[in-house]
Amino acid sequence: MSKFIAKPVRKLLCKLKIPGDKSISHRSIMLGSLANGITEIRGFLQGEDSLATLKAFQKMGVNIKQDSDKIIIQGVGLHGLKQPNSPLDLGNSGTSMRLMSGILAAQSFDSELIGDISLSKRPMSRVIDPLTDMGAVIESNDGKLPLKIKGSHPLKGINYNLPVASAQVKSCILLAGLYAQGETCVSQPKTTRDHTERMLKGLGYSVRVMNNKICLSGDGGLRAAKIQVPSDISSAAFFMVAACIAPQSDIILKDININPTRTGVIDILQLMGAKLTLINEREISGELLADIRVQSSQLRGIHIPVELVPLAIDEFPAIFIAASCAQGETILTGAKELRVKESDRIQVMADGLDILGIENEVSEDGIKIQGGIFQKPSNIIESHHDHRISMSFAVASLRCEYTIEINGVDNVKTSFPNFVELANFAGMNIVEV
Ligand code: S3P
Repeated sequence: MSKFIAKPVRKLLCKLKIPGDKSISHRSIMLGSLANGITEIRGFLQGEDSLATLKAFQKMGVNIKQDSDKIIIQGVGLHGLKQPNSPLDLGNSGTSMRLMSGILAAQSFDSELIGDISLSKRPMSRVIDPLTDMGAVIESNDGKLPLKIKGSHPLKGINYNLPVASAQVKSCILLAGLYAQGETCVSQPKTTRDHTERMLKGLGYSVRVMNNKICLSGDGGLRAAKIQVPSDISSAAFFMVAACIAPQSDIILKDININPTRTGVIDILQLMGAKLTLINEREISGELLADIRVQSSQLRGIHIPVELVPLAIDEFPAIFIAASCAQGETILTGAKELRVKESDRIQVMADGLDILGIENEVSEDGIKIQGGIFQKPSNIIESHHDHRISMSFAVASLRCEYTIEINGVDNVKTSFPNFVELANFAGMNIVEV
């Protein structure tokens, strides 16, 4: 089990190129494999999660060549996947698991999906239930992994109201809907990331979006295209918070995806008083990009608007560090989903903040954090093998007066394999041992 040893520094000055967006990288492999023709991807995230998706499609007979962040896929069409000869191991990746179950439920062959200890604890009924309504046959361990998906059960379209605002569940149903007879519609209680809808449209599939209701009909086809993956705003978020809280900083984050369904972290930090500006906004491969300048900022506590929660769902561990350095209290509500991520991110962050002497109070669906200074009751943080917890506490080191240690950081490579290298390039002092 590896750990970070992070020493305090005060100054961050740099221009950074953050690796590719994880959500878009997953979808580019899935849809590129199901398209007709050759898909060329640039900027692919070489993290363990998106590579788990890549390997799973290779195991299903798709010819995928990788040369660092360049990928070439010989698409097999919607009906060209082959039965894998062993269970598909999707590691730590909830996105692979939930989206692929939608695709696999519609195939003519049986398949089995497994994952690591964390993924094996996460709820899968949220995809099993709607897929079963569509006609799929899936065995699970009481709503958890492994999923045994039976082939040759034709699907029919459904009209589904998502009980939770989840892009993974929405995407699972839409991907199953590509194969279903008739129309499939998904209504979401709040806006969630729309990369699936955008990429389907980019590959020539007709998707009808009416506010928070998304519909498509089965039996179309996908046309291969070139896909440029922008830099991941969820990874960039660690550096946004880092630059805000380090007393002398001025950084630029290049080519960041600013899809409006992902920019909650920008809105929240700006509401807290962050000096954060977008430069050079542009559109590439159907996604919006910008460079983001962030300078040292005196942050203040806020009540986080509840409609921003799904738009910043992966960034809360980093936002909690910003709240710890803000003047006054920050209140988060309506974020129960954080409890079923790679770890229970409300409790695990609260435990880490306790260790650093930051007053906080957890509730079922959120947390209150009283901004303060990191003191030293102890300096050892447990990340519970959650990549985003590990990176968030590494960022907290910027405002500590002492070295901190973060245990169990191995999974940082699921989403941000060169985090330590970039953090040190930016001026931080982190060693992985
Ligand atoms: C993702 C959706 C979100 C997010 C995850 C990636 C996606 O999950 O937390 O990291 O790519 O669709 P939920 O849909 O479960 O909120």
